[in-house]
Parts: sequence; structure tokens; C-alpha cells
Amino acid sequence: MNNPSHKEKKKETPVVDNYDRKIDYLRISITDKCNLKCVYCTPEKALTHFNRSEILTDEEIVRFVQVAHRHGLSKVRITGGEPLLRKNITGLVTSIKNIGIRDLSLTTNGLMLSSLAGQLKDAGLTRVNISLDTLDAVRYKKITRGGDIALVWEAIKSAESAGLSPVKINMVPIKDMNDDEIESFASLTIENNFHIRFIEFMPAVNDGTWSKEKYIKSAQILKKISALGEITPFTFRGTGPSRNFRIRGAKGVIGIISPLSDHFCAHCNRLRLTANGKLRPCLFSKETIDIKTPLRNGISDEQLEMLFLQAIKSKPQGHGLKDKQILSSPINTMSEIGG
Ligand code: 5AD
Repeated sequence: MNNPSHKEKKKETPVVDNYDRKIDYLRISITDKCNLKCVYCTPEKALTHFNRSEILTDEEIVRFVQVAHRHGLSKVRITGGEPLLRKNITGLVTSIKNIGIRDLSLTTNGLMLSSLAGQLKDAGLTRVNISLDTLDAVRYKKITRGGDIALVWEAIKSAESAGLSPVKINMVPIKDMNDDEIESFASLTIENNFHIRFIEFMPAVNDGTWSKEKYIKSAQILKKISALGEITPFTFRGTGPSRNFRIRGAKGVIGIISPLSDHFCAHCNRLRLTANGKLRPCLFSKETIDIKTPLRNGISDEQLEMLFLQAIKSKPQGHGLKDKQILSSPINTMSEIGG
């Protein structure tokens, strides 16, 4: 259960970066391992993984979040790899929530979620994002290189009944892979209170999987959705870079996230912490700030605070990548960063 004495702590104002953006959101990758190998995220050939000793411990993660929370961090997302593969995930969720993190969510492929949803909710998790890129079982197996879509639907139901809602579903449309399903996904919002989040395909794997031809711009996604009926744009608090829409009369919401085409960097409110303890100021950053070594060398809270502030101050205005550069700068570590 949450500790009320922690929850009541005074709210600090978030740190503002050099471009006037409030940074109040941290995405923490807690493992680089995954039980799927989605074609757009992971190369077919096995990746090497960090040794256990290279990965931040629960205590190290919690200590960093405590320090960041004193500087107005109010939102945390746990990612992977697949975060539910980490031992003691519910304990970690409890500890992060007890720091006073108001909004604590997790991105998962859902395969292991149905038996954990209730425990995670009790531990203080607010919501989940579930990756699902097709509604077809055979296609799902192909895209994920072996996954069982039935487990994902069970996960979605369990998350809803546990109150981890609204359930957000991440869909990455890719030409000739699943782009013919954009309308079907959007239509799911008519009867269900899902947030369907269409995310532009980013170059994550350095094996030619990404190409300009396979990448679908958010404008094209929007055009397809508009054919379903009247759609109205709206914003709700804390949506970050997602542009949101609702089909008239629909229960759920459609979000479009355009990391490559537009509307993204100006609204960036986040930092990332990798499983091996590197602060990454931007998803596309080559430069990172190591907190693991200093943590293990007995850094003080004040010095840790300095590293947090340094990461915020080194956030670039934008990723600044144009098509050609994008191709030559794949995010090889996407499966460690969790998107
Ligand atoms: N492009 C866009 N999003 C990606 N993700 C992973 N790889 C990519 C990519 N190449 C995101 C998806 C997925 C989450 C785990 O990471 O949203 O649901």
C-alpha cells in the first residue's frame, strides 16, 4: 500500500530546460531483455544483453527518482525491453509510487500482464501502454517473431478490470506490414475506452528494416482516420507530444505521435534513464550521462541532483534529424530504451 506520509510531500515545480520546456517526466528502462523480437524494434540476430551487475538495482533507481522528484518530477514510465520480465516488478512500482510520483505507468507487450495487473494496480501503477501492431493472430506472430495475440487480449481485459485505465494501445504503422489496419485500430475507440496511439515508425534497427517507403507520416495516418467520420482534435493535461483526436461519439481516444515528421520536440517533457544507468537527454542522443558509476562510488544526493539538472540542461532543442540523417543514425538501442 502507498505510504501517505510520502504522498503528501510538498510539490516542487519542475525544472525548465534551455528551451523553456518543463521537464517533469522520466522514462526508466528497467531491463534490456524482451520475450518478443518485434521486427521494427529488434534485429533478428540475437542481441547481447547487459549482465545483471550492469543493470541498475531497485535501490539505485529509487534513489535517483527520489532526487528527481525533489525537482518536480511527477511522471514516471517504466519500460524495457519487457519490464514485466524484471524480478520484483511490483516491489519496484510500490517504491517509486511511495516517493510521491503521481502518474506511474508502464509500457508492456502484455504477454505476462494478465496475472500481474491486479498486483500492479495495488502497488500504485496508474496505467499501462500495451504494444499491439495488428489485430490478426498470424500477422502478430510474424511481426513479433513468435508472439501469441490471445495473451495480449487477455492482458487488455485484465488491465481494464484491474482499473489500469484507460488502456493505451501502441501501434506502429508500417507500409505493407500493417498499414491496412489503421482504420480498424481507430474504430476500436468507438465502442471501447481505449487510447489508440499511432506512433511513426522510427529507424531502430540497423538492418534496412526502416526505409522512407515503409515509413508512414502522421498526416497520412490522420487522413485514413478522417475517413471514418468527423474527428475532433483536443488536448488533455499532460499528453506530451501526442496529438489527440476523438471520432464523434466514440468512447476512446486516438493519439498520433510524430517523432519524425513534426509537433514533437517542442512539447518534449522527458528524460530517459537506460537499464544500465545512463541518462539520455533525447531519444536520439548519442551523448549520455552515466549515473551508475557515481551511484556505486558513493555520490551524494547533491551531486546526483547536479547530474539530473545537467541532463535536463543538455536537452537539445530538437532531434534535428532530416530523412538522410535519420537513415544514418538508427536508434540501435531502442530495445533497451523502450521507445
Ligand atoms: N518506431 C516507433 N516506435 C517504436 N517502438 C519500438 N520500436 C519502435 C520503432 N522502430 C515503441 C512502440 C512499442 C514500444 C515498446 O516502443 O511504441 O509499443
